[in-house]
Amino acid sequence: MSTIRIITPIPGPRSRELMRRRNAAVVRGAFHATPVFVNHAEDAVIEDVDGNRLIDFAGGIGCLNVGHRNPRVLEAIRRQLDRFLHTSFNVLAYESYIALAERLNAITPGKFPKKTVLVNSGAEAVENAIKIARAYTRRPAILAFEDAFHGRTYMAMAATSKTHPYKAGFEPFPADVYRVPYAYCYRCSYSLQYPGCEVHCARHIEDAFKRVVAAESVAAVIVEPVMGEGGFITPPPEFFSILSAICRKHGILLIADEVQSGFARTGALFACERFGLEPDLVTMAKSLSGGLPLAAVTGRAEIKDVSGPGGLGGTFGGNPVACEAALAVLDVIESQNLCARANHLGELFRKRAAEWQKRWEFIGEVRGLGAMQALEFVRSRGTREPADEETKQIAQYCYEHGLIILTAGTYGNVIRLLMPLVITDAQLNEGLDVLEAAITAACEKKGTVAQFA
Ligand SMILES: Cc1ncc(COP(=O)(O)O)c(C=O)c1O
Repeated sequence: MSTIRIITPIPGPRSRELMRRRNAAVVRGAFHATPVFVNHAEDAVIEDVDGNRLIDFAGGIGCLNVGHRNPRVLEAIRRQLDRFLHTSFNVLAYESYIALAERLNAITPGKFPKKTVLVNSGAEAVENAIKIARAYTRRPAILAFEDAFHGRTYMAMAATSKTHPYKAGFEPFPADVYRVPYAYCYRCSYSLQYPGCEVHCARHIEDAFKRVVAAESVAAVIVEPVMGEGGFITPPPEFFSILSAICRKHGILLIADEVQSGFARTGALFACERFGLEPDLVTMAKSLSGGLPLAAVTGRAEIKDVSGPGGLGGTFGGNPVACEAALAVLDVIESQNLCARANHLGELFRKRAAEWQKRWEFIGEVRGLGAMQALEFVRSRGTREPADEETKQIAQYCYEHGLIILTAGTYGNVIRLLMPLVITDAQLNEGLDVLEAAITAACEKKGTVAQFA
Protein backbone atom coordinates (compact mmCIF):
# COMPACT_ATOMS: atom_id res chain seq x y z
CA MET A 1 0.00 0.00 0.00
CA SER A 2 1.41 3.35 -0.95
CA THR A 3 1.94 6.08 1.64
CA ILE A 4 1.73 8.97 -0.79
CA ARG A 5 -1.82 10.16 -1.46
CA ILE A 6 -2.40 13.02 -3.85
CA ILE A 7 -5.94 14.37 -3.98
CA THR A 8 -5.30 17.88 -5.32
CA PRO A 9 -2.49 19.28 -7.45
CA ILE A 10 0.32 20.22 -5.05
CA PRO A 11 0.23 22.95 -3.84
CA GLY A 12 -3.54 22.58 -3.37
CA PRO A 13 -6.06 25.43 -3.00
CA ARG A 14 -5.63 25.80 0.77
CA SER A 15 -1.84 25.89 0.51
CA ARG A 16 -2.12 28.46 -2.30
CA GLU A 17 -4.44 30.63 -0.21
CA LEU A 18 -2.05 30.43 2.76
CA MET A 19 0.79 31.34 0.42
CA ARG A 20 -1.06 34.51 -0.58
CA ARG A 21 -1.48 35.46 3.11
CA ARG A 22 2.11 34.49 3.83
CA ASN A 23 3.43 36.72 1.05
CA ALA A 24 1.50 39.69 2.44
CA ALA A 25 2.40 39.13 6.10
CA VAL A 26 5.79 37.39 6.34
CA VAL A 27 9.20 38.68 5.24
CA ARG A 28 10.65 37.32 2.00
CA GLY A 29 13.86 36.37 3.82
CA ALA A 30 12.05 33.69 5.86
CA PHE A 31 12.12 31.39 2.88
CA HIS A 32 10.48 27.98 2.59
CA ALA A 33 11.69 25.39 0.14
CA THR A 34 8.16 24.26 -0.86
CA PRO A 35 4.79 26.01 -1.20
CA VAL A 36 3.16 23.24 0.84
CA PHE A 37 1.48 24.05 4.18
CA VAL A 38 1.31 21.28 6.74
CA ASN A 39 -1.65 20.14 8.76
CA HIS A 40 -0.34 17.05 10.51
CA ALA A 41 2.81 14.95 10.67
CA GLU A 42 3.66 11.52 12.03
CA ASP A 43 6.97 9.59 11.78
CA ALA A 44 8.10 10.27 8.18
CA VAL A 45 4.71 11.23 6.77
CA ILE A 46 3.18 14.67 6.34
CA GLU A 47 -0.43 15.53 5.61
CA ASP A 48 -0.87 18.95 4.06
CA VAL A 49 -3.77 21.36 4.55
CA ASP A 50 -5.45 20.00 1.38
CA GLY A 51 -5.43 16.40 2.61
CA ASN A 52 -2.50 15.27 0.46
CA ARG A 53 -0.14 12.80 2.09
CA LEU A 54 3.59 13.21 1.44
CA ILE A 55 6.75 11.36 2.44
CA ASP A 56 9.24 13.54 4.27
CA PHE A 57 12.91 13.35 3.23
CA ALA A 58 13.64 16.73 4.86
CA GLY A 59 12.72 16.15 8.52
CA GLY A 60 12.43 19.88 9.20
CA ILE A 61 16.05 20.23 7.91
CA GLY A 62 17.40 17.26 9.82
CA CYS A 63 15.64 17.94 13.14
CA LEU A 64 13.52 14.81 13.24
CA ASN A 65 15.85 11.84 13.34
CA VAL A 66 13.39 10.19 15.77
CA GLY A 67 10.45 11.10 13.53
CA HIS A 68 7.57 13.55 13.69
CA ARG A 69 5.64 13.37 16.96
CA ASN A 70 7.64 10.49 18.32
CA PRO A 71 5.39 8.95 21.01
CA ARG A 72 8.09 8.91 23.72
CA VAL A 73 8.98 12.51 23.00
CA LEU A 74 5.29 13.52 23.15
CA GLU A 75 4.88 11.68 26.45
CA ALA A 76 7.88 13.48 27.96
CA ILE A 77 6.58 16.84 26.71
CA ARG A 78 3.09 16.17 28.11
CA ARG A 79 4.50 15.27 31.53
CA GLN A 80 6.46 18.52 31.61
CA LEU A 81 3.45 20.57 30.41
CA ASP A 82 1.67 19.59 33.62
CA ARG A 83 4.58 20.80 35.78
CA PHE A 84 5.96 24.14 34.48
CA LEU A 85 6.85 25.68 31.12
CA HIS A 86 9.52 28.20 31.96
CA THR A 87 11.34 29.66 34.91
CA SER A 88 14.57 30.60 33.10
CA PHE A 89 17.53 28.51 34.16
CA ASN A 90 19.11 31.87 35.02
CA VAL A 91 16.53 32.30 37.81
CA LEU A 92 15.25 28.91 38.98
CA ALA A 93 17.08 25.78 37.93
CA TYR A 94 15.54 22.35 37.27
CA GLU A 95 16.76 18.78 37.08
CA SER A 96 16.19 18.10 33.38
CA TYR A 97 18.79 20.72 32.36
CA ILE A 98 21.34 19.02 34.58
CA ALA A 99 20.35 15.50 33.48
CA LEU A 100 20.70 16.51 29.84
CA ALA A 101 24.08 18.14 30.46
CA GLU A 102 25.25 14.95 32.21
CA ARG A 103 24.03 12.86 29.30
CA LEU A 104 25.68 15.05 26.65
CA ASN A 105 28.93 15.13 28.64
CA ALA A 106 28.89 11.33 28.64
CA ILE A 107 27.95 10.67 25.00
CA THR A 108 29.90 13.31 23.06
CA PRO A 109 33.25 12.11 21.68
CA GLY A 110 36.23 12.16 24.06
CA LYS A 111 36.71 10.45 27.40
CA PHE A 112 37.70 13.58 29.34
CA PRO A 113 35.69 15.62 31.88
CA LYS A 114 33.18 17.83 30.09
CA LYS A 115 30.60 20.53 30.76
CA THR A 116 27.61 21.75 28.79
CA VAL A 117 25.68 24.96 28.22
CA LEU A 118 22.21 24.87 26.62
CA VAL A 119 20.94 27.51 24.20
CA ASN A 120 18.17 27.84 21.61
CA SER A 121 19.51 27.35 18.10
CA GLY A 122 22.43 26.03 16.11
CA ALA A 123 23.67 29.54 15.35
CA GLU A 124 23.54 30.41 19.05
CA ALA A 125 25.55 27.29 19.86
CA VAL A 126 28.17 28.38 17.32
CA GLU A 127 28.26 31.89 18.83
CA ASN A 128 28.81 30.44 22.28
CA ALA A 129 31.47 27.96 21.19
CA ILE A 130 33.43 30.83 19.65
CA LYS A 131 32.93 33.02 22.74
CA ILE A 132 34.22 30.19 24.94
CA ALA A 133 37.21 29.47 22.65
CA ARG A 134 38.24 33.13 22.61
CA ALA A 135 37.82 33.52 26.36
CA TYR A 136 39.87 30.39 27.08
CA THR A 137 42.71 30.94 24.63
CA ARG A 138 42.68 34.75 24.84
CA ARG A 139 43.25 34.71 21.09
CA PRO A 140 41.07 36.53 18.57
CA ALA A 141 41.05 34.59 15.29
CA ILE A 142 38.73 31.84 14.05
CA LEU A 143 39.53 29.57 11.14
CA ALA A 144 36.57 28.29 9.13
CA PHE A 145 36.22 26.38 5.86
CA GLU A 146 35.09 27.08 2.34
CA ASP A 147 31.55 25.75 1.76
CA ALA A 148 30.81 25.76 5.52
CA PHE A 149 27.47 26.76 7.00
CA HIS A 150 27.20 27.73 10.65
CA GLY A 151 24.03 29.85 10.86
CA ARG A 152 22.54 33.28 10.36
CA THR A 153 23.66 35.33 13.37
CA TYR A 154 26.64 37.61 12.80
CA MET A 155 29.51 35.44 14.06
CA ALA A 156 27.92 32.34 12.52
CA MET A 157 27.46 34.21 9.23
CA ALA A 158 31.09 35.30 9.30
CA ALA A 159 32.09 31.64 9.66
CA THR A 160 29.67 30.65 6.88
CA SER A 161 31.02 30.49 3.35
CA LYS A 162 28.14 30.68 0.85
CA THR A 163 27.50 34.28 -0.13
CA HIS A 164 23.96 34.07 -1.58
CA PRO A 165 21.54 34.05 0.14
CA TYR A 166 23.30 33.89 3.51
CA LYS A 167 25.76 36.78 3.50
CA ALA A 168 25.26 39.13 0.56
CA GLY A 169 23.89 42.48 1.69
CA PHE A 170 24.45 41.81 5.40
CA GLU A 171 28.06 43.05 5.48
CA PRO A 172 30.18 43.99 7.38
CA PHE A 173 30.89 40.82 9.34
CA PRO A 174 32.90 40.46 12.56
CA ALA A 175 36.64 40.61 11.93
CA ASP A 176 39.26 37.93 12.46
CA VAL A 177 37.45 35.07 10.75
CA TYR A 178 39.64 33.39 8.12
CA ARG A 179 38.75 30.73 5.58
CA VAL A 180 40.66 27.80 4.12
CA PRO A 181 39.60 25.10 1.62
CA TYR A 182 37.80 22.02 2.94
CA ALA A 183 38.35 18.47 1.70
CA TYR A 184 35.77 18.81 -1.08
CA CYS A 185 37.48 16.16 -3.19
CA TYR A 186 34.96 16.35 -6.04
CA ARG A 187 35.82 20.04 -6.49
CA CYS A 188 39.30 20.23 -5.00
CA SER A 189 40.40 23.85 -4.55
CA TYR A 190 43.95 22.75 -5.41
CA SER A 191 42.90 20.66 -8.46
CA LEU A 192 44.46 17.58 -6.86
CA GLN A 193 43.17 14.04 -6.58
CA TYR A 194 42.76 11.88 -3.52
CA PRO A 195 44.63 9.80 -2.38
CA GLY A 196 47.61 11.02 -4.43
CA CYS A 197 47.12 14.49 -2.92
CA GLU A 198 47.99 13.14 0.55
CA VAL A 199 45.20 15.37 1.87
CA HIS A 200 47.06 18.50 0.84
CA CYS A 201 44.10 20.70 1.92
CA ALA A 202 44.57 19.72 5.58
CA ARG A 203 48.37 20.02 5.49
CA HIS A 204 48.17 23.35 3.69
CA ILE A 205 46.61 24.96 6.78
CA GLU A 206 50.20 25.37 8.01
CA ASP A 207 50.72 27.57 4.95
CA ALA A 208 47.70 29.70 5.93
CA PHE A 209 49.46 30.35 9.24
CA LYS A 210 52.26 31.98 7.26
CA ARG A 211 50.20 33.81 4.66
CA VAL A 212 46.82 34.54 6.23
CA VAL A 213 46.86 34.58 10.02
CA ALA A 214 49.49 33.67 12.60
CA ALA A 215 48.85 30.34 14.33
CA GLU A 216 49.34 31.93 17.76
CA SER A 217 46.48 34.35 16.97
CA VAL A 218 43.99 31.55 16.25
CA ALA A 219 41.59 30.60 19.05
CA ALA A 220 39.74 27.82 17.22
CA VAL A 221 39.11 25.98 14.01
CA ILE A 222 35.39 25.39 13.47
CA VAL A 223 34.50 22.48 11.21
CA GLU A 224 31.50 20.38 10.22
CA PRO A 225 32.64 16.73 10.24
CA VAL A 226 30.29 16.17 7.29
CA MET A 227 29.26 19.44 5.71
CA GLY A 228 25.51 20.01 5.80
CA GLU A 229 24.30 22.97 3.74
CA GLY A 230 27.56 22.77 1.77
CA GLY A 231 26.27 19.56 0.19
CA PHE A 232 27.07 16.67 2.54
CA ILE A 233 30.74 16.93 1.69
CA THR A 234 32.48 14.00 3.35
CA PRO A 235 36.23 14.32 3.83
CA PRO A 236 38.64 11.41 3.52
CA PRO A 237 39.40 9.70 6.85
CA GLU A 238 42.88 11.23 7.31
CA PHE A 239 41.58 14.80 7.07
CA PHE A 240 40.67 15.03 10.73
CA SER A 241 43.76 13.33 12.14
CA ILE A 242 45.92 15.85 10.26
CA LEU A 243 43.69 18.76 11.31
CA SER A 244 43.70 17.65 14.99
CA ALA A 245 47.48 17.32 15.00
CA ILE A 246 47.86 20.83 13.56
CA CYS A 247 45.48 22.23 16.18
CA ARG A 248 47.28 20.47 19.03
CA LYS A 249 50.69 21.65 17.80
CA HIS A 250 49.60 25.30 17.86
CA GLY A 251 47.34 25.26 20.94
CA ILE A 252 44.26 25.90 18.76
CA LEU A 253 40.90 24.52 19.89
CA LEU A 254 38.91 22.33 17.55
CA ILE A 255 35.16 23.00 17.45
CA ALA A 256 33.11 20.30 15.71
CA ASP A 257 29.80 21.67 14.47
CA GLU A 258 27.52 18.62 14.68
CA VAL A 259 24.30 20.63 14.35
CA GLN A 260 23.27 18.79 11.17
CA SER A 261 25.38 15.63 11.37
CA GLY A 262 24.64 14.72 14.99
CA PHE A 263 22.31 12.29 16.73
CA ALA A 264 22.66 9.11 14.66
CA ARG A 265 22.34 10.70 11.21
CA THR A 266 25.71 9.39 10.00
CA GLY A 267 25.36 5.92 11.52
CA ALA A 268 27.11 6.97 14.74
CA LEU A 269 25.76 9.19 17.46
CA PHE A 270 28.14 11.91 16.21
CA ALA A 271 29.88 12.11 12.84
CA CYS A 272 33.16 12.77 14.71
CA GLU A 273 33.09 9.12 15.81
CA ARG A 274 33.20 8.02 12.19
CA PHE A 275 36.59 9.76 11.92
CA GLY A 276 37.94 9.02 15.41
CA LEU A 277 37.86 12.77 16.05
CA GLU A 278 37.75 14.08 19.64
CA PRO A 279 37.04 17.81 19.39
CA ASP A 280 37.53 20.23 22.28
CA LEU A 281 34.01 21.62 21.83
CA VAL A 282 30.94 20.24 20.06
CA THR A 283 27.94 22.28 18.92
CA MET A 284 24.59 20.48 18.68
CA ALA A 285 21.00 21.45 17.83
CA LYS A 286 18.40 20.24 15.30
CA SER A 287 17.66 16.56 16.11
CA LEU A 288 18.68 17.00 19.74
CA SER A 289 15.14 17.64 20.89
CA GLY A 290 12.81 15.93 18.42
CA GLY A 291 11.31 19.11 16.95
CA LEU A 292 11.60 21.65 19.77
CA PRO A 293 14.16 24.46 19.67
CA LEU A 294 17.17 23.48 21.76
CA ALA A 295 20.92 23.58 21.22
CA ALA A 296 24.02 22.78 23.22
CA VAL A 297 27.75 23.32 23.43
CA THR A 298 29.61 20.54 25.20
CA GLY A 299 33.35 20.43 25.70
CA ARG A 300 36.38 20.04 27.89
CA ALA A 301 35.46 21.10 31.43
CA GLU A 302 38.50 23.34 31.89
CA ILE A 303 37.67 25.24 28.69
CA LYS A 304 33.95 25.54 29.40
CA ASP A 305 34.43 26.91 32.92
CA VAL A 306 36.49 29.88 31.80
CA SER A 307 33.66 32.43 31.67
CA GLY A 308 32.22 33.87 34.86
CA PRO A 309 28.60 33.42 36.09
CA GLY A 310 26.17 35.13 33.69
CA GLY A 311 28.62 35.15 30.78
CA LEU A 312 26.82 32.37 28.88
CA GLY A 313 23.21 31.30 28.35
CA GLY A 314 20.08 33.42 27.99
CA THR A 315 16.45 33.77 29.03
CA PHE A 316 15.11 30.68 27.25
CA GLY A 317 18.32 28.60 26.96
CA GLY A 318 17.61 25.01 28.03
CA ASN A 319 13.84 25.36 28.19
CA PRO A 320 12.47 22.58 30.45
CA VAL A 321 10.00 21.21 27.89
CA ALA A 322 12.79 20.99 25.29
CA CYS A 323 15.14 19.37 27.85
CA GLU A 324 12.60 16.64 28.65
CA ALA A 325 12.05 16.10 24.91
CA ALA A 326 15.82 15.81 24.38
CA LEU A 327 16.19 13.21 27.14
CA ALA A 328 13.45 11.19 25.45
CA VAL A 329 15.17 11.59 22.05
CA LEU A 330 18.39 10.13 23.47
CA ASP A 331 16.43 7.18 24.91
CA VAL A 332 14.75 6.56 21.54
CA ILE A 333 18.04 6.69 19.61
CA GLU A 334 19.51 4.14 22.00
CA SER A 335 16.54 1.80 22.43
CA GLN A 336 15.62 1.75 18.74
CA ASN A 337 19.25 1.49 17.68
CA LEU A 338 18.87 4.36 15.23
CA CYS A 339 22.59 4.41 14.40
CA ALA A 340 22.28 0.94 12.86
CA ARG A 341 19.05 2.02 11.20
CA ALA A 342 20.83 5.03 9.65
CA ASN A 343 23.46 2.73 8.16
CA HIS A 344 20.77 0.43 6.79
CA LEU A 345 18.88 3.32 5.16
CA GLY A 346 22.13 4.65 3.72
CA GLU A 347 22.89 1.24 2.18
CA LEU A 348 19.43 1.02 0.60
CA PHE A 349 19.93 4.46 -0.92
CA ARG A 350 23.49 3.74 -2.10
CA LYS A 351 22.30 0.63 -3.98
CA ARG A 352 19.69 2.62 -5.88
CA ALA A 353 22.04 5.56 -6.43
CA ALA A 354 24.76 3.29 -7.85
CA GLU A 355 22.26 2.14 -10.51
CA TRP A 356 21.32 5.73 -11.27
CA GLN A 357 24.95 6.71 -11.59
CA LYS A 358 25.46 3.95 -14.17
CA ARG A 359 22.46 5.22 -16.09
CA TRP A 360 22.86 9.00 -15.92
CA GLU A 361 25.96 11.10 -16.53
CA PHE A 362 23.92 13.75 -14.77
CA ILE A 363 24.89 12.33 -11.37
CA GLY A 364 28.42 13.52 -10.74
CA GLU A 365 28.89 12.13 -7.27
CA VAL A 366 27.05 10.08 -4.65
CA ARG A 367 28.45 10.71 -1.18
CA GLY A 368 27.77 10.65 2.51
CA LEU A 369 27.94 8.62 5.68
CA GLY A 370 25.14 6.50 7.12
CA ALA A 371 21.81 8.08 6.23
CA MET A 372 23.45 11.48 5.54
CA GLN A 373 23.58 10.88 1.79
CA ALA A 374 23.53 13.19 -1.21
CA LEU A 375 23.65 13.33 -4.99
CA GLU A 376 25.61 16.05 -6.77
CA PHE A 377 24.21 16.84 -10.24
CA VAL A 378 26.39 18.05 -13.11
CA ARG A 379 25.65 18.90 -16.75
CA SER A 380 28.59 16.76 -17.81
CA ARG A 381 31.01 14.58 -15.88
CA GLY A 382 33.85 16.06 -17.93
CA THR A 383 33.23 19.72 -17.07
CA ARG A 384 31.46 19.10 -13.72
CA GLU A 385 29.35 22.16 -14.51
CA PRO A 386 26.84 22.39 -11.66
CA ALA A 387 23.28 21.49 -12.77
CA ASP A 388 21.64 24.00 -10.43
CA GLU A 389 18.44 24.71 -12.39
CA GLU A 390 17.85 21.01 -13.01
CA THR A 391 18.34 20.28 -9.29
CA LYS A 392 15.65 22.85 -8.46
CA GLN A 393 13.35 21.17 -10.99
CA ILE A 394 13.97 17.80 -9.35
CA ALA A 395 13.01 19.14 -5.91
CA GLN A 396 9.87 20.71 -7.40
CA TYR A 397 8.88 17.54 -9.24
CA CYS A 398 9.33 15.66 -5.97
CA TYR A 399 6.96 17.78 -3.88
CA GLU A 400 4.42 17.86 -6.72
CA HIS A 401 4.50 14.06 -6.63
CA GLY A 402 4.41 13.59 -2.88
CA LEU A 403 8.02 13.72 -1.70
CA ILE A 404 9.51 16.56 0.34
CA ILE A 405 13.24 16.80 -0.41
CA LEU A 406 15.89 19.49 0.02
CA THR A 407 18.64 20.86 -2.19
CA ALA A 408 22.04 21.91 -0.84
CA GLY A 409 25.52 22.88 -1.98
CA THR A 410 27.38 26.09 -2.67
CA TYR A 411 26.23 25.73 -6.30
CA GLY A 412 22.71 24.58 -5.41
CA ASN A 413 23.23 21.35 -7.35
CA VAL A 414 22.95 18.80 -4.57
CA ILE A 415 19.97 16.78 -3.37
CA ARG A 416 20.36 15.66 0.24
CA LEU A 417 18.53 13.09 2.28
CA LEU A 418 17.42 14.05 5.80
CA MET A 419 14.48 11.73 6.31
CA PRO A 420 13.50 10.68 9.83
CA LEU A 421 15.46 7.54 10.69
CA VAL A 422 12.22 5.83 11.72
CA ILE A 423 11.04 5.84 8.09
CA THR A 424 10.08 2.32 6.96
CA ASP A 425 11.98 0.59 4.16
CA ALA A 426 8.79 0.70 2.06
CA GLN A 427 8.43 4.46 2.57
CA LEU A 428 12.10 5.04 1.76
CA ASN A 429 11.74 3.05 -1.47
CA GLU A 430 8.52 4.82 -2.39
CA GLY A 431 10.26 8.16 -1.88
CA LEU A 432 13.24 7.00 -3.95
CA ASP A 433 10.82 5.97 -6.74
CA VAL A 434 9.60 9.58 -6.85
CA LEU A 435 13.17 10.87 -6.83
CA GLU A 436 14.06 8.48 -9.69
CA ALA A 437 11.07 9.70 -11.69
CA ALA A 438 12.12 13.30 -10.99
CA ILE A 439 15.64 12.66 -12.28
CA THR A 440 14.21 10.93 -15.36
CA ALA A 441 11.93 13.93 -16.01
CA ALA A 442 14.85 16.36 -15.63
CA CYS A 443 16.90 14.32 -18.11
CA GLU A 444 14.05 14.22 -20.61
CA LYS A 445 13.38 17.94 -20.29
CA LYS A 446 16.99 18.94 -20.74
CA GLY A 447 18.44 17.48 -23.93
CA THR A 448 21.90 18.49 -22.73
CA VAL A 449 21.68 16.20 -19.73
CA ALA A 450 23.20 13.00 -20.98
CA GLN A 451 21.92 9.56 -20.27
CA PHE A 452 24.30 6.68 -20.83
CA ALA A 453 23.27 4.28 -23.59
C1 LIG B 1 26.19 22.71 10.60
C2 LIG B 1 25.20 23.76 11.02
N1 LIG B 1 25.55 24.65 11.95
C3 LIG B 1 24.70 25.60 12.37
C4 LIG B 1 23.44 25.71 11.82
C5 LIG B 1 22.51 26.79 12.29
O1 LIG B 1 21.48 26.22 13.03
P1 LIG B 1 20.13 27.04 13.30
O2 LIG B 1 19.42 27.16 12.00
O3 LIG B 1 19.41 26.22 14.33
O4 LIG B 1 20.56 28.37 13.84
C6 LIG B 1 23.02 24.80 10.84
C7 LIG B 1 21.70 24.90 10.23
O5 LIG B 1 21.39 24.34 9.21
C8 LIG B 1 23.94 23.80 10.43
O6 LIG B 1 23.61 22.91 9.47
